[in-house]
Amino acid sequence: MSRILLGVSGGIAAYKALELVRLATAAGHAVRVVQTPASRRFVGTASFAALTGAPVLVSEFEHDPARGAFPGQAPPAHEPIGHLQLVANADAYLIAPASANTLAKLAAGLADNLLTSCALAAHCPLLVAPAMNNRMYEHPATQANLATLRERGVIVVEPEAGRLASRGEQGIGRLAEPARLLAACEAALASPRQGLAGVKVLISAGGTREPIDSVRFIGNSSSGRMGLALAQAANRRGARVTVVAANVALPTPDGVRRRDVVTAAELQQACEQEFGDCDVLLMAAAVADFTPAHTSDGKLEKAERERLQIELQPTADVLAGLSARRREGQTLVGFAAEHGDRALERARGKLLDKRLDAIVVNDISRADVGFDVDHNEVTIISAAGERHVPRASKAQVAEAILDAVESLRPSG
Ligand SMILES: Cc1cc2nc3c(=O)[nH]c(=O)nc-3n(C[C@H](O)[C@H](O)[C@H](O)COP(=O)(O)O)c2cc1C
Repeated sequence: MSRILLGVSGGIAAYKALELVRLATAAGHAVRVVQTPASRRFVGTASFAALTGAPVLVSEFEHDPARGAFPGQAPPAHEPIGHLQLVANADAYLIAPASANTLAKLAAGLADNLLTSCALAAHCPLLVAPAMNNRMYEHPATQANLATLRERGVIVVEPEAGRLASRGEQGIGRLAEPARLLAACEAALASPRQGLAGVKVLISAGGTREPIDSVRFIGNSSSGRMGLALAQAANRRGARVTVVAANVALPTPDGVRRRDVVTAAELQQACEQEFGDCDVLLMAAAVADFTPAHTSDGKLEKAERERLQIELQPTADVLAGLSARRREGQTLVGFAAEHGDRALERARGKLLDKRLDAIVVNDISRADVGFDVDHNEVTIISAAGERHVPRASKAQVAEAILDAVESLRPSG
């Protein structure tokens, strides 16, 4: 059982916070709720108090009958300072819904109500779940505030796209469903090892597409599952993770920043922009080695296709390019999808040629592991030796790869 502090700010989705409390208490967690004054216009304190079995606080200056204790916990003998005691007792602090206004205050470090004061004083994992109209969410101010919070290690439980509260409107901004909010909280609580705390990890995921004409492309069947599994696992170890996602149809793990790209050239550009600032690079994307020398503007007609010849030219080796400008303290890991017998030998060559710290090899001649399936089986090669990771879920393989990364880090 864990102690979850829930901050509710003013938005229509505040009603969903009631369901979250119901799920969290049913799962055995002790929950306390703090509300902003505006949120009471949407949902009153009585429902939260009834569901949590604990007083709900709105003002820093009001008396807390429970003296900062959570249900099942003995209150201290003295009269503590409310907001400090609440967060000192909490294992995680989730603000859901987080209004645009509250996000702006958190990014600026304001502490003008109980909810924001608690956020500033919190030592436990802090999660925010934005919920608002899509125009408010997409506004550069809100996006900049979220970027600031992510940068500080706050876990952002991304909103969902769909029908919005305002009549007839669709878009991104719906509060994540209560079950997802609870899962994000539990993931933050379960972060047993923070071996990558504060480390900036850049991951490329998915497979690039090289356009032949406006509708056709040369691509590969990489789904991005391995890259996203790495992103999720690194995030849980306390890393600040950015994923450069090439044609990845899967959802982004909570707390992870994502940049979408299509072609090898776009992936190269995004990785080059992010690389200088990262501490660890995990190059898991399948990047095209060749791209059509010419792309037709429109759709090629059938008559043209019948005698179609596509001239291909090599793409840049993104990883080799990044490695050439690596700075001290950076850890670089490549991924090699190899066929058959000499897979390890070829991968060892790449490790040396590209001056990498490690290379993760998988045998793509097998149908049960590798591209576009949930499992993988890899060998991690570094100067320190080789570790074979037998067939396992991509989440488990990701943990093994990150164990290797931690041991390769300068302080590891
Ligand atoms: C009917 C109504 C619905 C609103 N819904 C939202 C919302 O979903 N998200 C949001 O960020 N703000 C919403 N607002 C605006 C906030 O309530 C307002 O910015 C308020 O100052 C937030 O205060 P707080 O962040 O201290 O809770 C809404 C306002 C009204 C009147």
